[in-house]
Formats: sequence, C-alpha cells, structure tokens
Amino acid sequence: MRYLSHSHRTMRPLLLVCLLQLVFSGCATDPGTKQIPTQARGFIATEAMVVSAHPEASRVGKEILQLGGNAYDAAIATQFALAVVLPAAGNIGGGGFLVYRQHTGKAGTLDYRETAPAAASETMYQDSAGNVVNGLSTGGHLAVGVPGTVDGMVQLHGRLGSLPWARLVQPAIDLAAKGVVLTEKEAAGLNRTRENFLQHNKHIPYLTRESNWQAGDTLRHPDLARTLSRIRDEGRDGFYTGVTADLLVREMQRSNGIITHQDLQRYAAVWREPVTGRYKNYRVISMAPPSSGGVALLQLLQMVAPYNLQRYGWQSTETIQLMTEAERRVYADRATYLGDPGFVTVPVQELLDSVYLRQRMATLDLAKATPSTAVKAGEMPVYESEQTTHFSIVDTQGNAVSATTTLNGAYGSKVVVEGAGFLLNNEMDDFSVKPGVPNMFGLVGGKANAIAPGKRMLSSMTPTILEKDGKLYMVVGTPGGSTIITSVYQAILNVVAHGMTMQEAVAAPRFHHQWLPDEIQHEPNAISPEVREALRHKGYTLQERGPYGRVDAILVLPDGRLEAGADPRGDDAAAGF
Ligand code: DON
Repeated sequence: MRYLSHSHRTMRPLLLVCLLQLVFSGCATDPGTKQIPTQARGFIATEAMVVSAHPEASRVGKEILQLGGNAYDAAIATQFALAVVLPAAGNIGGGGFLVYRQHTGKAGTLDYRETAPAAASETMYQDSAGNVVNGLSTGGHLAVGVPGTVDGMVQLHGRLGSLPWARLVQPAIDLAAKGVVLTEKEAAGLNRTRENFLQHNKHIPYLTRESNWQAGDTLRHPDLARTLSRIRDEGRDGFYTGVTADLLVREMQRSNGIITHQDLQRYAAVWREPVTGRYKNYRVISMAPPSSGGVALLQLLQMVAPYNLQRYGWQSTETIQLMTEAERRVYADRATYLGDPGFVTVPVQELLDSVYLRQRMATLDLAKATPSTAVKAGEMPVYESEQTTHFSIVDTQGNAVSATTTLNGAYGSKVVVEGAGFLLNNEMDDFSVKPGVPNMFGLVGGKANAIAPGKRMLSSMTPTILEKDGKLYMVVGTPGGSTIITSVYQAILNVVAHGMTMQEAVAAPRFHHQWLPDEIQHEPNAISPEVREALRHKGYTLQERGPYGRVDAILVLPDGRLEAGADPRGDDAAAGF
C-alpha cells in the first residue's frame, strides 16, 4: 500500500486499527512478522482519484484527470499503463469488464471479455476417452481466448472519452520504452514463472533472463512499445488487423493455437445494461452476465439484508455463518445457471427475486452448517498466484469507473507474442471444460458454461458501484478468481454494516465459501480462535490460506471528499488531487 500524496490520518479505536494488521500478523505484535501501516482513513483527495494495482498506473490516470480528462479517459490510460507495469495481469492480450456511472446518475457497463475462437469445441480440452487433459486449458497456445481489451478501450473512447485517443495511449508507450522499475512482488512473480515462460514459448521471452530479476531492476518492453504505437496510430486496426494481428496469428501457428485472423476481426466488445438492486438504502450497480459477479453479489447482499449484521458483529460466529450459508447457495446457483447470455438463457430476474432468495435461506439453521450437496468431489487445486487487476476512478465531475481486467492466471497462458511483446490470456479455463470438473479456481459448471465458438466464458469479476440516496457512494472491485465476489461482498459490508473506513474495509482479513469444496477458506487471523472453534462445533470445515484479493476502492465521504482503499496485500496505490 503506498500513497502518492500526503494522506490524511485520523486516530481510530484500537480494534479497527488492529484490522489493518490482521492480514499478515495478528494484532498482537509478533516481532518476526510483517506489519502493515495502520491508518484508519486511506489517502484522501478532494476532487478526483485513481486507485489501481501499481503506483505508475495510478499516476498515469491521475495525470489524465489533471489534464481535464474524464474518468473514461483515465480508465483507458490506466488500462494501457497496467499492460506495461503489471505484466502479470494488466494486459492488451486479455479482457475485462467495466461498470460506469455518469455524474448524471446514468449507469452502464462495457463487456470486453474474451471469446472462444471459431475452431473451439465443447470437448477441446478432453482426450479421446473424455478425460480432461491436465494443463491444456491453463497454459500454452490452446488456452487463449480472443482478446477483448483493445476493442473495449476503443469503444469506450468512442462513446464516452473526451481527450484525443493518442494522448491516452502515449503514457503506456513511454513507460514501455523507458522501462519500469520492478517491485519486489513483480520480480518474484517473473522469477517464479520463468520455467513456465520457457516451456510455453518457442522463443526466449523477454520476461526471462539468465539470472533472477531483483526489485529495482528496470524491465524494458521495446516490442510492446511498438505494438502500443500501432494501437495509438490505428486504433482497433492496430491490434485486430495488420502487423499485430499477423504476429499474433503467427504465434498461434508456432504451436497448437487456433486463433485466426477472422477471429480477431470479428471480436467486438459489448455494451450491456448493468444488474442493479438494493441493499438497505444503497443501490448496487454491477456487472451482468457473462460475469456472474453482479448477480452473485446482489444475491448475497439480499440474502443477508434481513439480518442485523452490525449487532452480530464483524467476523462473529453468526455473521460468518450467515454470509457462508448465503455464499454456499449462491455459488451452487452460479455453477448451474450462469453463462454467456448470447448462448444460454440466464434467469437473472428469477435469481434475484426476493421470494426466491428468501426461500433459499429458509433452510438456514444457525445451530449447524448446511452441508453442500456434492455434485462431484470438488478437490480444490493448489492456488496459482492470483492475477487479475482492478481499478477504481472518480473524476472532477463525479463520473465513476469501476473496471476489472485480466489474463486469468498470473501471466495468463505464459505465451508472449513474439515480436509484439505482450502476453496472451488463458481465459479458456473459465469455461467448464467438462461438467463437474473444477477449473483452476475450483469452480464447477455445466452446460450453461460449456465451450462454444464465439461464446464468452463465465467470469466472477465484480466491478461495482454503490449509490446512497441517489448519489455516488462507493466504487469497488478486486481480482481473486472465485473469491472476487466474496471479497467485494465483504468490502461493502465492512463499510455499510460494520462502519469501517474504506481503507480498513479493504485491508481487513477475509474469508470465502464457494459451495464446493465445502469449506470456509480464510486468511490468517481472519477468524478468531474462539469463533473458529464455535464454527467447527457447528459442523463447518475451516481451511486457512494465504492472503488473496487486491481490493481497490473509492468511498465518497459525507463532505464530498474521496477516500481511497488501496489493498495492502499488493503494490496498490492511490493518486488524486
Ligand atoms: O474472470 C474470472 O473470473 C477470472 N478469469 C478472474 C481471474 C482472477 O481474478 C485471477 N486473479 N486474481
């Protein structure tokens, strides 16, 4: 967590301050463990703000806002900057979802999710005996979906942008040409992935070198600078046709890739209506299918709305039980009903119906856990370092953008397009490669999320905006695969039900349940030993795991100033003025 400007600090009771330390260390001082800064309020800006996963990307977005650009201009510049400074997740070879709310109150979304290539098929990751071939949907050329980011940014600019396109792409080109100083986390990520880069590329990708990368080393991206220059000069054509497209298709042909020129030419981002709903006196605006995020978040919020979480208390046995039981039911719905609405009918209204949601919670018994109905023993695979990235922006007029973008796993498919300098996604793994077989996030699915040519794979990304009394209140989102939905859920409830500041809410340790496997996963120190014992006694299985998610959020304070929540788990940073 870093601040690019002086931050406003206030003293808060010890309990809340402790929340900030709990993620890594526990509140009691343990001399060997990492302490994170304790500050009740995050960075404050009076006019406009960007919170993203990298200080350089936040700086680029802020400079666009200072130039008089709007939140959409800043989003475009930040997205391209992240493609350079955060190769693990920032991207032009992936996709994402963006939710916006104009200062007039009008809200909308842009879906720039990847699509399955035309040659894709339902059983493409299975062998002739119908067994899923390990690793085929997660690494290498066949794992790649048709990238959506560049068309998304071009469409966003066309509809809502105000500054010239070239001005918005140029900062990323400058960063790519000049090089970026690696943070400790980025250096470690590149070193960890070295063997995979070498395995999945015929050439030696520029992201590897003989010796390990160190924090402080400068990583230059000359080929990416040239690709971005083509995008600056030719817009969509600078990526989907011409030199970049030729390089991408040639890369596919070096191995078992199937993306063709026609796939690239056909790709189109889609403007969609958001899903909206209420939680108490807040209006929640979030992403519609093909992300499951918005529907699931609204279901989760409505399911706990009848209960007084504040009275139960943050991370109390009852609060954790209620949230867990809602999560279990919602993820079961997700596995069955959610998919690309262009291909399957997603019963959004039915899933959000208040009577339906009440019925779903009617089987709740606070005396004991409801066991998840086993469809197939969903073994949770080892977590791959989680990489997707979220940014939140508010401009001087009060326009807001909440965008989550990804290559899927860290560094996506690990395939670098030779000569073009960018990584390709492994988003195809977000499809259900076989009914009931868990993907890399342990999520199961069936027919609704089966692979089909041109179809978008189901997502959990949950870029979200909240209104209170008809005014902009919060901009929030996070990476984290299947945990995205529950992390956004907790960040919101931490503020609106438990009274935390935005910074406290994103820093507070988290827990997660996704139906299968039937366990509450939690960060170290997220749940006190007493509450853990009480939950076990009621039949819950608890599984500790490392820190996850990087929630980046903005809260509008009662006086109109903006408070950042920049997740201390990453290099996330706020910038504003
Ligand atoms: O769309 C999705 O739900 C996933 N591809 C997101 C992956 C992710 O968040 C990985 N990292 N943190």
